[in-house]
Amino acid sequence: MTSYSLRSASPAKTRADAVVVGVVAGPEGPRLCDAAADVTAAYGRRLRPFLSTMGVTGKAGEAVKAPTRDEVNAPLLVFVGLGEDPSDPVAVRRAAGVAARGVANAASVALALPSDTPALVAAVVEGHRLGGYSFTAYKSTKPEAGEPNDVVVLTPLARRAEAVEALERAQVLADAVTLARDWVNTPPRDCTPPLLAELVSAAHKEVTKGRGAPKVQLEVFDHEQLADMGCGGILSVGNSSASPSRLVKLTWAPKDAVTHLALVGKGVTFDSGGLTIKPSSSMLNMKGDMAGAASVVAATLAIARLGLPVKVTAYAPMAENMVSGTATRPGDVITMRNGTTVEIANTDAEGRMLLGDALALAVEEGPDVVVDIATLTGHMQLALGDKVGAVMGTDDQVPAVLAAGVAAGEQHWHMPIPEEMAERISTSKVADLLQHDWVRWGGGLYASAFLREFTGGLPWAHLDIAGKEINTGSPYGHVPAGATGFGVTTLVEYARSLATSAG
Ligand code: BES
Ligand code: ZN
Ligand code: MN
Repeated sequence: MTSYSLRSASPAKTRADAVVVGVVAGPEGPRLCDAAADVTAAYGRRLRPFLSTMGVTGKAGEAVKAPTRDEVNAPLLVFVGLGEDPSDPVAVRRAAGVAARGVANAASVALALPSDTPALVAAVVEGHRLGGYSFTAYKSTKPEAGEPNDVVVLTPLARRAEAVEALERAQVLADAVTLARDWVNTPPRDCTPPLLAELVSAAHKEVTKGRGAPKVQLEVFDHEQLADMGCGGILSVGNSSASPSRLVKLTWAPKDAVTHLALVGKGVTFDSGGLTIKPSSSMLNMKGDMAGAASVVAATLAIARLGLPVKVTAYAPMAENMVSGTATRPGDVITMRNGTTVEIANTDAEGRMLLGDALALAVEEGPDVVVDIATLTGHMQLALGDKVGAVMGTDDQVPAVLAAGVAAGEQHWHMPIPEEMAERISTSKVADLLQHDWVRWGGGLYASAFLREFTGGLPWAHLDIAGKEINTGSPYGHVPAGATGFGVTTLVEYARSLATSAG
């Protein structure tokens, strides 16, 4: 485990194995950020030609290593690009993430990045922890160059309580994102619904143990209980699998709660498509189809650790969508938790079946607002790519989610639920709702209209994060290859914004 601390020391005099220095891409060429002023002074007139020879420009994503001689105490400087605005926490978070990967082997690292506000201190810590993430549980040879033991954030605020709190907040957020990434990265045979429920209870235990730990209630409902509860949607998906379904519920109910937020996350531990089977290449990353469940659990534990005055009830329905003699068929009619009947048209549109039941359960408790998050449709991946999430919902909540995304450094985009969709979901000849209608255009919007039927008319937002949960390309910023943890920080920021706007 890497330990993080704040120090107001000078980067030129620091005796770390490596010092990371932020570089701003200015109009007159690159310059070191203010936090590294004494490195600039130590190099004097030699700095400009030195940066130029090394090819340092300051553009975002850049990391250039340079051995030092007697200019500074550390043997290695790592120049990381901040782009043009060094006061932007998003840019700083990215640069810190790049820095974490840019230093291959150092026991101690000092970070001279913009950190003269608590928000920037948090961005540095969060970025560094998340950018340095790796998932090695299944590698028989672990990489030799491990994580550093000590990371020191060089900041003028080192002795200020707000900065120490910012460091702690960042650690809680990074823990949450790490948890979600680990679960999404875990192979599906080790992350079936019963096993994922166990992973959740282990994490819950860790967070709630000991004196002063937050009190979070955990309930796990098994297949039989789900049948008794009338959760036909969850069971219609899980019936295809040898691993039975689960529903995990977490409750954080602080005495000072100013509002009640219900979170619902899709937990399909593997999505083969069911009888409407997916083509092989589309099945490759379907272990990540439980990312929504992972993110609501991780966010709820973080909200509790932060002590946010918001009551949170989180629902994570878990099922495996497989092909078998007990699988649900197109044409079957399923009765959902709230009594609505649904005609199945495509067993690959399984997420809405889990979410419909879980949303119905969530609204039964009368929350003030409901937010669901799901890797729901390839349509939203096609429309928005692999870095921008889709948000649909009621007009009062969508802007709040978008704002939370900005604060969290994640991008989301508002998508509509056109009126026409409300009609299309009601065109089944045998049931109340038609699960899917085989018109490919706007499939993500159809899915949203379907989910809305289970929200009881409450204020609601739906985050479709399909394609954002796993980065199939190279690492960038604080995002590694593989599981991203996308959505976790947006959910926590959203809860924080509810606390301040209602309080
Ligand atoms: N889990 C998939 C959606 C998905 C696609 C997640 C790509 C991550 C990356 C979902 O269950 C699904 O299969 N959706 C269908 C929807 C259709 C049947 C309406 C799809 O994407 O085609
Ligand atoms: Zn799915
Ligand atoms: Mn599917």
